[in-house]
Amino acid sequence: MTPAMSHNREEMRVPFLDIRAQHAEVAAELEPVVLDILRTGAYVVGQHNKGLEAEIAALHGMKHGIAVNSGTDALRIMMQAAGIGPGDEVITSAFTFVATIEAMIQIGARPVFVDIDPVSFCIDPNLIEAAITERTKAIMPVHLFGQLCAIREIKAIADRHGLLVFEDSAQALENHNNGDFAGKFGVATGLSFYVTKNLGAAGDGGMILTDSDEVDFACRSLRIHGMGKERYYYDSIGYTSRMAELQAAVLRFKLKKLPHWTARRQELAAIYNSGLAGSSVITPETLEGNNHCYHQYTIRTEGRDELQAFLKEREVDSMIYYPVPLHFHEPYKYLGFTEGDLPQTEEVSRQCLSLPIHQHLGDEHVQFVTDSILEFSKVGSR
Ligand SMILES: Cc1ncc(COP(=O)(O)O)c(C=O)c1O
Repeated sequence: MTPAMSHNREEMRVPFLDIRAQHAEVAAELEPVVLDILRTGAYVVGQHNKGLEAEIAALHGMKHGIAVNSGTDALRIMMQAAGIGPGDEVITSAFTFVATIEAMIQIGARPVFVDIDPVSFCIDPNLIEAAITERTKAIMPVHLFGQLCAIREIKAIADRHGLLVFEDSAQALENHNNGDFAGKFGVATGLSFYVTKNLGAAGDGGMILTDSDEVDFACRSLRIHGMGKERYYYDSIGYTSRMAELQAAVLRFKLKKLPHWTARRQELAAIYNSGLAGSSVITPETLEGNNHCYHQYTIRTEGRDELQAFLKEREVDSMIYYPVPLHFHEPYKYLGFTEGDLPQTEEVSRQCLSLPIHQHLGDEHVQFVTDSILEFSKVGSR
């Protein structure tokens, strides 16, 4: 038995996320504000929406922030605002949350998959040019798990071929490469504030960031039914996608804690990295120039499912992001990709495992997880 295994099991339960602990940190300041919103009736697009838009835009060094109802809406609205529509092809990866491609398809565009680089988990820039056709309008890389993809190379390819870049930054709040934040590289970027994100609302929420005045205007119009400068006059067919003022308030109070929360995630990642060094699992790498905010700490290993079951027995939560590549799912088979077409995507889907990493874990929790993984490796190699 390793030293950590002697800990009391109840004490050592390692949850994947602790929403209650998050709320407890902001409760004293936030709860009176939430009550005030409820009592005054300022439910939509009020001071907290405006404040949040300005604060997140400033954090990423962007001119405009447009708060919307979800990350998926952010992706859909920003692409539509920039002119993507029926018949357009958008290059992306199949190792992502389904919303990336849903957003494209719902505005009539067609996702075209390119395989990933297994080190970054993101689209492999070396394979992009071969996927460009005369219908390609844009590339939408996904900044996965808390760091930017090879975005400078992708932007250079897009510029060479006259393509737009949209960044899926649902998991990339605070992510930058040498000081250039997510959103700086493309026409616009979409953030998600879903509950489980590093900055999570009490429900759904999202935001578009852009430096373009035209895209900003079009996004603001699309989020309220395509309404133009005058009330009840419409420029386009839009959506109902305002962010609730209650959510904006929740996010603003949590945003104040974010630098501290991210620093804690980074400390825990360092404990994982040193604890797992030399083990049979492959630990995540940070690409050059990136800050890694560890939305997820994702390892790769053979025998992933057995390891997950072993951890579960020890009350260590883990998640598989993503177990089935998007081209394997029935609704997306019409895109024409079959098994074997995206070998790295398919292999990483079989090997990836995300370990608990959040600001409310103690060092001893992470130590317990690494000890458990080392224990598993020893059992496996007997
Ligand atoms: C990579 C990626 N894209 C898009 C989304 C969609 O965001 P939301 O759930 O806020 O609609 C998410 C989040 O769930 C995501 O992780």
